[in-house]
Amino acid sequence: MSDIIIKTEEQIEGIRRSSQLAGNALVMIGEYVKEGVDTEYLDNLIHEFIQDNGAISATLGYNGYPKSSCISLNEVVCHGIPSKNTVLKSGDILNIDITTILNGYYGDTSKMYTVGDISRTAQNIIEVAKHSLDLGIQQVRPGNHFGNIGFVIGRYAKAQKFSVVYEFCGHGVGIDFHESPQVDHIARRNSGPIMQPGMTFTIEPMINEGRASTRVDKFDGWTARTSDGKLSAQFEHTILVTSDGYEVLTDVSGEY
Ligand code: MF3
Ligand code: CO
Ligand code: CO
Repeated sequence: MSDIIIKTEEQIEGIRRSSQLAGNALVMIGEYVKEGVDTEYLDNLIHEFIQDNGAISATLGYNGYPKSSCISLNEVVCHGIPSKNTVLKSGDILNIDITTILNGYYGDTSKMYTVGDISRTAQNIIEVAKHSLDLGIQQVRPGNHFGNIGFVIGRYAKAQKFSVVYEFCGHGVGIDFHESPQVDHIARRNSGPIMQPGMTFTIEPMINEGRASTRVDKFDGWTARTSDGKLSAQFEHTILVTSDGYEVLTDVSGEY
């Protein structure tokens, strides 16, 4: 017996609308990502945008998390807490991750941004993280195993001489923030549950320049950094399994 929720048409429409709002928030914030700006300022803009659109942030108050977004710079893998003390400088790469709750439905997405001139390695890891997400998305269709998402991502990242974070995963999403199943970004071929139409979940691979292992900041309890201090990059979408493939619910640019 599977505990993966198959959503109804009505629920899917709600999740789609919330996902589109989260995607639009990522577009909105893009023009404010500049040298000299602090990440608390960006978070405030995100908070207002979500509120102005009749929704709330899923992260604000989630297990005590204090902000409306996660903003993760350079060696921060995920769950970076926006702060006045974190000021963007040329050469930084950052992930902004936004989860919205609109009419009770969740949408979860993140992408990378750059500040000024970035290194070749930084550009490369961003491209590899994006392609990792896209390879994972291409595995989404009824009858396929969830493990094949992690299989193709792991194989590709390894060929690019990068590593895949295994300590944080994608997840079912829509009715709740983190639903079943856990979506691993490195996995064995044909492992895990089978995808069925109406399932909604995230794919959100975190790709590391060096070692795959991470360490959570012992003072704030959230910020996860690469254990070797090297770069990390991540992209995330909320995906629906359709009758013959997938729909990228958080895509607002018509890319997929
Ligand atoms: N949005 C993140 C995810 O992709 C979760 C953030 S939880 C928080 O699953 F509490 F750190 F915000
Ligand atoms: Co997520
Ligand atoms: Co997220």
